[in-house]
Amino acid sequence: MKGIIEDLHVLTDEALPVAKPIDPGPRQGRKVYIESYGCQMNFSDSEIVASILQKQGFQTTSEIESADVVFLNTCSIREKAEQTVRNRLQHINGFKKQKPDLLVGVLGCMAERLKAKFLEEEKIIDLVAGPDAYRDLPRLIDEVDGGEKAVNTFLSREETYGDIEPVRLHSNGVTAFISIMRGCDNMCTFCVVPFTRGRERSRDPYSIVAEARSLFEQGFREVTLLGQNVDSYAWSIEENNKARLQAIGGQEIVNFAKLLDLVASVSPDLRVRFSTSHPKDITDEVLFVMSRHDNVCKYIHLPVQSGNTDVLERMNRGYSREWYLAKVRRIREVLGEDCGLSSDMITGFCGETKEAHDDTVTLMDAVKFDYAYMFMYSQRPGTLAEKKFADDVTEQDKKDRLTEIIAKQTQHSLESNQRDIGKTFRVLVEGFSRRSDDFLQGRNSANKVVLFPRSNKSKGEYVHVTIDRCTGATLFGNAVD
Ligand code: SAH
Ligand code: SF4
Ligand code: F3S
Repeated sequence: MKGIIEDLHVLTDEALPVAKPIDPGPRQGRKVYIESYGCQMNFSDSEIVASILQKQGFQTTSEIESADVVFLNTCSIREKAEQTVRNRLQHINGFKKQKPDLLVGVLGCMAERLKAKFLEEEKIIDLVAGPDAYRDLPRLIDEVDGGEKAVNTFLSREETYGDIEPVRLHSNGVTAFISIMRGCDNMCTFCVVPFTRGRERSRDPYSIVAEARSLFEQGFREVTLLGQNVDSYAWSIEENNKARLQAIGGQEIVNFAKLLDLVASVSPDLRVRFSTSHPKDITDEVLFVMSRHDNVCKYIHLPVQSGNTDVLERMNRGYSREWYLAKVRRIREVLGEDCGLSSDMITGFCGETKEAHDDTVTLMDAVKFDYAYMFMYSQRPGTLAEKKFADDVTEQDKKDRLTEIIAKQTQHSLESNQRDIGKTFRVLVEGFSRRSDDFLQGRNSANKVVLFPRSNKSKGEYVHVTIDRCTGATLFGNAVD
C-alpha cells in the first residue's frame, strides 16, 4: 500500500486542476487594481483574487488611475492598520468623483470584522468580501453592476483555495509565497486574527508541492510557506480527501515536518522558508528536517510577544519565559549559532508592570534576536483581552517601553551583523539594490540582506559573497566565485 509521501512524488502533476474559464462576456478587459495591507498572507490572498478574476476575463493593473475596479485587501491587526485603510478610502473617493462608475471593494480582515456595517460607515464602498469569499467575487461584482451593494463575509471550515494557481503580482521572478493553511485556532487574547480568518485548516500537500514545482520550473528559486502557525499544519487523506483515500489507500498524516521535507525535495536549488512558527508547536522533527536539507533556510521567525510568564499567560500563548528560552537553546543546538532568529514583541499589554516589561528586555539580552517587529498593544474589539482585561497601561508607558526595546533591538541587529564580517555566505540574488544598478541585492540563508558589486552575476543566481562591512540592516561584501 502506497503512503501519501510516495504518492506525492508521482501525483503532483494532476494536483492542480485548472478551473475552466467561463464566457467572460462584458467582463473582458475590465481592469482591476488590488492594493494589499497587513501580513504576507494578505498579499498572498491578493494573488488568489487576481487569479480568480483573470479567469473570469478581468485584467489586473498596477495603476489605480486606469482601474475600473479597485480592491483594498485590508488588515485589522492594530487600530492604526484600520485607520490607514480608512484614510486610503478617503483618497480613493477623489478618483471616484472623476469616475463615478469606479467599483470600490474592500477585502480581507477589516471586511470580515466590520461586515455590512462597513458599507454604512464608508459610503464609497460598493462591495465587502471576507477572506473565505473570494470565489464569489465575480458574482458580487455582478450584483454591484446590477445596482446593489454586495456583501459576503461567510467564513468557511474547508476553503483553502488549494486548486487555484495564484497570479504573481509585483513579482521579482525569484521569490514567491505559498499559502499552506488558513485561519488560526490559537486564540491569543490580544489577537483579532481568529475572528477575521476563522478556523484553522490545512491545504492539501499535493497542490502545495505542485505549486512549488511549477514555480521552480518558471525560474523561481525561493518559496516561503505561509500560515499563522505553520507548525500546526496537519493534513490527512481520511480527514480531507476521501476520494483520494479510495484511490491510493493509506492512513498517514502529513505534518509540517513532512510537508517541509517534501517541498525541500522539489530541487536542491529551490530554497524553502516558512513563517510563522509558534514557540509552543515547533518540534524537533521540524528542526531535524531543516538541518538535513541545505536548501531549507536556517532562519526561524519565532514571536515571543513578551518575556514575562504572567503576561504570556494572560496572552494565552501557551508557553512560559523558560520554555521559550529552552526552545531557543534547542534551535541553536540543532541548527548552530548562525541560524537566524527573529521575533515579534508587544509593549504595554493589559496588566504589564514595569517589572514585567523589564523581563522582555532581559529576554532580548538573553536571546539576542537578529531582527524583531515591535508594537504597542492596541486593543481590538471582540478579542478575549477586550472582554477580560483592562487596557490599563498608559499610552505614554506603551510608547516609552516600545522606544526602549527598539533601541535594544537596533543594537542587537548591528552586533549580529558585525559578527558576520569576514564570513562567506551563499546569497540568492533577487535583483538590483534599490539605490544603484551597480549593486545586486539578495539574502543569505539566515534572511539577512546582502549587497555586493554586480560584476557578471544576475537575478536568480546563487553567489558566494564574503562580507566586509555592515550597517544594522544590511551586509556588504564581494562575490568570491
Ligand atoms: N500568527 C503570528 C502573528 C500574526 S500577527 C504569531 O502567532 O506570532 C503579527 C504580530 O502582530 C503578532 O505577532 C503580534 O506581535 C502583533 N499583534 C497582534 N495583535 C496585536 C495587537 N492587538 N496589538 C499590538 N500588536 C499586535
Ligand atoms: Fe493571532 Fe496567536 Fe493566531 Fe498568531 S497564533 S494569529 S497571534 S491568535
Ligand atoms: Fe492583518 Fe489579517 Fe494578516 S488582521 S496581519 S491581514 S491575518
